[in-house]
Amino acid sequence: MDKQFDILLTKIKKIVNRNESSKNRLQSICQLLYDNIPYYNWVGFYFPDKNEQNYLLLGPFVGEPTVHVKIKFGQGICGQAAYTKKIFIVEDVLKETNYLSCSAQVKSEIVVPILKHKKFLGELDIDSHTRNAFSEQDSRFLKKVCEYVSDTLN
Ligand code: SME
Repeated sequence: MDKQFDILLTKIKKIVNRNESSKNRLQSICQLLYDNIPYYNWVGFYFPDKNEQNYLLLGPFVGEPTVHVKIKFGQGICGQAAYTKKIFIVEDVLKETNYLSCSAQVKSEIVVPILKHKKFLGELDIDSHTRNAFSEQDSRFLKKVCEYVSDTLN
């Protein structure tokens, strides 16, 4: 799996350097992750709402549409990751009390903040239909993805 993550990182580095809008580049990253990792069943970015402080807005994503297009900091896994700027891995979403459900099919989730000089710029959220899908390897890999993304956001 490490090898596959390395190959994907090389591809993501190329995507972030493309001369395209950041929206297009982020959309391509979602698609690449969704298409290549079988247990990544929803992949999307959330960014702080520029008009309302302490809220996240859904950005580019691939997967089923979600009702959670606007999330308050602190609410759900996404809101907690935004508030704490920490990576959240949820092995079993049914055991979570502060969780916003998108679909009954989702069993586990990982949220990785995108930081620049410790400032929160946004986050990458991935849902899986498999319970306990995300390992330390996923966490390390997605942290790298978010570092690449951070370098291209201002
Ligand atoms: N489950 C997330 C909400 C976003 S969806 O997964 C797309 C949460 O608890 O914050």
